[in-house]
This record gives sequence, C-alpha cells and structure tokens, in this order.
Amino acid sequence: MVRSSSTLHSDRLAAHIDCILYHTTPHINLIMSSSSSAHRRAGQLVGHLAAQHQPLVAPLRAAPVAFTKKPLKLCVTGAAGNIAYAILFMIGQGKMLGNDQPIELRLLDIPAMANAINGVLMELNDCAYPVLTKIIGTTDYKTAFEDVDIALLIGAKPRGPGMQRKDLLAANGAIFAGQGKALNQWAKRTVKVCVVGNPANTNALIAMQNAPDLPKTAFTAMTRLDQNRAMSQLATRLNVPVDNVKNTIIWGNHSKTQYPDVNHGVIESYPFPSLSSPIRAAVNDDAWLDGSFLTTVQDRGAAIIKERGKSSAASAASACVDHVRDWVLGTQKGQWASMGVYSDGKTYGVPEGLIFSFPCQCYNGQWHVVKGLKIDERSQKLLDATTKELLEEKRDASAAL
Ligand code: NAD
Ligand code: LMR
Repeated sequence: MVRSSSTLHSDRLAAHIDCILYHTTPHINLIMSSSSSAHRRAGQLVGHLAAQHQPLVAPLRAAPVAFTKKPLKLCVTGAAGNIAYAILFMIGQGKMLGNDQPIELRLLDIPAMANAINGVLMELNDCAYPVLTKIIGTTDYKTAFEDVDIALLIGAKPRGPGMQRKDLLAANGAIFAGQGKALNQWAKRTVKVCVVGNPANTNALIAMQNAPDLPKTAFTAMTRLDQNRAMSQLATRLNVPVDNVKNTIIWGNHSKTQYPDVNHGVIESYPFPSLSSPIRAAVNDDAWLDGSFLTTVQDRGAAIIKERGKSSAASAASACVDHVRDWVLGTQKGQWASMGVYSDGKTYGVPEGLIFSFPCQCYNGQWHVVKGLKIDERSQKLLDATTKELLEEKRDASAAL
C-alpha cells in the first residue's frame, strides 16, 4: 500500500478524531481506524491546515511500505492481559506473519478492561508499526470476530501457585464455549484458531464443539512453549545453538502429563559440523533424558509461577508467534512443530475427538500430523497416561458446561 504523506496526515488525524469520538461518545467499541467518516473530516482538516502551512501532525514515516498482500484480520483475546502485552508488539514487529503482511488487529477483552484495552491500543499506535494497518479495540464478539482470519484465544484466567491447569476448567470453559459460538457465527470459514488459555487442549475442544459449521482442523491448542522449553534444555545440556536441536516432540496435553519425546530428534552439526546425531546418542545419558529432563519440561510452567509469582507471559507469546507462523507460512523442510490438533482416531492409537499434541508439518496453510513414527513401549505408556487425562478433562468439561 503506497500512502501519500497527505494521506498519512489524514490517517493520523482520523485516528485522533476517532479517539476524541470514543472519549466523548458512550459506546462499547473503541474503534481507531483510517476508514471512517472521521477520515473525510480529517481530509478536510488536513487541507485547511496545509493551506495555513501549520501542520499540527508530524510526518509519520519517510518511506511508506508498499504491501502487495491483502490484509489479514487477526483477533487477540485477553488483549489487556500479560501475554497480550508481549504478543501484540511481536505481531506489530512482523515476527508472526512477516514484514510484508498487513494486519488488521482486533483487541478483545471484557468490559471491565475497556480502559486498559484503549491504553494498549494507544501504545500500539505510538509504535507506528507499518504492518498494523488498522487497530480496533472492542468488548463485543461480533466486532472482534467478524470475518477474522486468525484468532488467538488467550483471554482466560491463569492458574496460581499449587494449582493444576485443569483446575481452571470450571472458570475458563464457559469463555471458550461462548467464543466458539461467536467464531461459528462470524469468523471466515478458513479461520485459524490458536487456543492459549488454559487448560488449552480442552478449551480448544470446547470451542471446536461449539462451532459446528467450522472445520475441526481450524482449532488448535498451543504446546509450542513446551517444545521450545525442551529444545532449550537440550541445547544447554549439549552446549549447542538451540537452532541445531531438531524434531523434539510434545505429545498429548499441555499439562504435567505431556510427553516430551526426544526419540525421533537430532542434533545437527554434532559432534562435528558435518554430522548430525540422534538426540539420545548425543546426550548419552538416558537417566537424565527419562528423568529430570522430562520433569523439568513437564513442570516448567509451575516453576515459573513459583519464581515469578505469575505465569509465563513473554515466552508464551513467543511460542504463539512460532505456532501461528509455522501454520500460516509453513514449517521448514524436514522439520516438525508440535501442535494440539483434532485427533481423527487413526493416528498413534489416540481416540477420536480429543485435541492432542502431535508432531506436525505445515504447508499450504494446513497442518498434517507426521505419521509412521515408531513408538516404543515406554513411550506408549506415557502416551496412554496423557490420553487418559485428556479423556477425563473432556468428561469433566461436558459435565460442567
Ligand atoms: P492475564 O490474567 O494477564 O490476562 C487474561 C486477560 O483475559 C485479562 O485481561 C482478562 O480480562 C481477559 N479475559 C477474561 N475473560 C475474557 C473473555 N471472555 N474474552 C476476552 N478476554 C477475556 O493472563 P495471561 O497471563 O495473559 O494468561 C492468559 C491465559 O493463558 C491463562 O489461562 C494462562 O494460564 C494461559 N497460558 C497458556 C500457556 C500455554 O502454553 N498454552 C502459557 C502461558 C499462559
Ligand atoms: C505455562 O506452561 O507456562 C502456562 O501454561 C502457564 C501455567 O499455568 O503453567
């Protein structure tokens, strides 16, 4: 999109006028766009100001970016919360979808957070990110989800010390039932949904069950944070760049029963630049891999809550960026990303109808479970344990909702 400097002046003024309208009009939606009637009035004002040679608005950017891609509509729920306060700025920096992808951002939170949404929106505007071509703050589902291409369902209560993530089901499940219905009604039929709010797998299932007109493949739960944690533990142990750790897998639930599996992964350029080694051979310490490595990854969320006093936020945001980037733009050749996706009952013995984390490859905007990996007896027991927990959560969710 090539924007002339007078258009930029007019955009900025339109935003100001919309902002003034927001502050002077008692309505729920906090809309700051460049396409309203305020834009026309801003155009007139710019003409008036230019005639007086007194520009009140400083020029925005010397070199406007020319976009050839159509804007994507992306909604972030829990927009006034901690994770959102990290991810929104990563999105603005182009880290999720690239610097060439314009984004129309919708920020959704609950009415009690209306002022906080507005504050975040003001900060996003103040960053002057070129990819954010429109930003809307709202507390209304239709405004948030209408024609949306990507929905990041982050908004939910986080757990506190001593809680399991599934203890949040009673408090959070209803949010995802409501948002599933709203997505069913308003979202694009090709929408991609990433559920972050805990318990993520079962919340994604609840949202999916409440959206019968959308494909089941539209709903995913984030387990990428667990994958990133596993990769980081291995890289530190072997003193290699984290990027050399390939194809670690998170199976099952984003919970203490998840199975971080290294049996199919490799360390590239190890021990020599021209060699790759299976992770088990490179580490050469099964007791560590099957013991403290496993429990460190499984318990990492709780360990962060214990130290920080609140749950992970920036690392969760970064993992969500990774999840959506790989889903939309594709995983790199030969590489897998762990994603909580709908189980069809034909894959690794996991029953149909769960949102289960599998290794996936993504291309053409679709995820595909990596098939045919050999599962040993020990791994099977761990897969069974996480499956059992997901079946219990599913049962509890249907009893509660
Ligand atoms: P937070 O409390 O800082 O923010 C949550 C926000 O959600 C609040 O602003 C709240 O008002 C909002 N919200 C509540 N109900 C809503 C609704 N119906 N619609 C829109 N917004 C709503 O919490 P946070 O730290 O941002 O964490 C959010 C969730 O993400 C928690 O459930 C947390 O446990 C989970 N989480 C998941 C992972 C993961 O790896 N899957 C990682 C970290 C955190
Ligand atoms: C995490 O893994 O950090 C999040 O799911 C937050 C939590 O409750 O552990």
